[in-house]
Amino acid sequence: MGRLQGKRAIVTGAGSGIGRASALLFAREGAAVLAVDKTSDAVEETVGLIAAAGGRAIAMAADAGDEAGVRAYVAHAMAEFGGLDVVFANAGISGGLVPLFEQTVELWQEILRVNLIGPFLAVKHAGRLMMQQGSGAIVCTASVAGLRANAGGNPYSASKAGVISLVQTAANSFFDSGVRINAICPGLIETGMTKPIFDYAKERGTAAHLGQLNPLGRYGEPHEIAAMALFLASDEASYVNGQAFAVDGGLSSTHPFRRRRP
Ligand SMILES: NC(=O)c1ccc[n+]([C@@H]2O[C@H](COP(=O)([O-])OP(=O)(O)OC[C@H]3O[C@@H](n4cnc5c(N)ncnc54)[C@H](O)[C@@H]3O)[C@@H](O)[C@H]2O)c1
Repeated sequence: MGRLQGKRAIVTGAGSGIGRASALLFAREGAAVLAVDKTSDAVEETVGLIAAAGGRAIAMAADAGDEAGVRAYVAHAMAEFGGLDVVFANAGISGGLVPLFEQTVELWQEILRVNLIGPFLAVKHAGRLMMQQGSGAIVCTASVAGLRANAGGNPYSASKAGVISLVQTAANSFFDSGVRINAICPGLIETGMTKPIFDYAKERGTAAHLGQLNPLGRYGEPHEIAAMALFLASDEASYVNGQAFAVDGGLSSTHPFRRRRP
């Protein structure tokens, strides 16, 4: 029996990185997956990988930060699967590292739209159906950037702090309904989003330094975030609600500390 056997799941941002790894893992654990991404080729590729591994998945191109897009992906999952048990609202953008005094309102609006309003809309449209069903699990991707500074730009960090607040407040809005909602705060993970950081470090020959600020002394892989998403989406997490979990090699547990390797 898979850990999501018989579940119907949506994963957004499923065309790359954490979303792709999670869609693959959810399907491997028995879920039927609607894989959503704004990039249709990429999400088709994810679904191809799932099918090749013997899983069940459908691809859909949609903007996860737009209400019409979210309504459409929830309706598509309902039409295809006849119900919805899991939503992983994971799509996000970094917005780059623009210096504070050069940031525009438009930059802030776009980052908040995708990273925070996107998860809100998933909560609104999928959460309502789940409340009617009397069950469901929503998982949102926040970030260690939402916990404290220096893991992303100002608007990115604010958007992720907003996601942490969203899961706390939404868990209370879902009071007594059987619907759970939690967030994951990844540390540095090698994905499409962080490719420029990894490429830059590789060019300079400093790739070995990546991730060395955390007690594990390394960066993370998408499957290590997918593993937490799987747990939170599954019935194993039946009493876990309204929380934000750092999956960051211990980064957020420490004060800044300069280590000497033994
Ligand atoms: N990589 C890291 O170090 C890291 C750390 C903390 C949090 N995160 C978060 O993890 C999540 C996944 O990012 P990733 O690192 O896998 O990056 P990624 O760039 O590899 O994947 C993100 C995917 O989301 C899609 N996407 C972006 N905007 C979208 C939209 N409006 N609608 C639909 N799809 C959209 C992209 O096309 C892409 O396929 C994001 O929310 C990101 O903020 C990443």
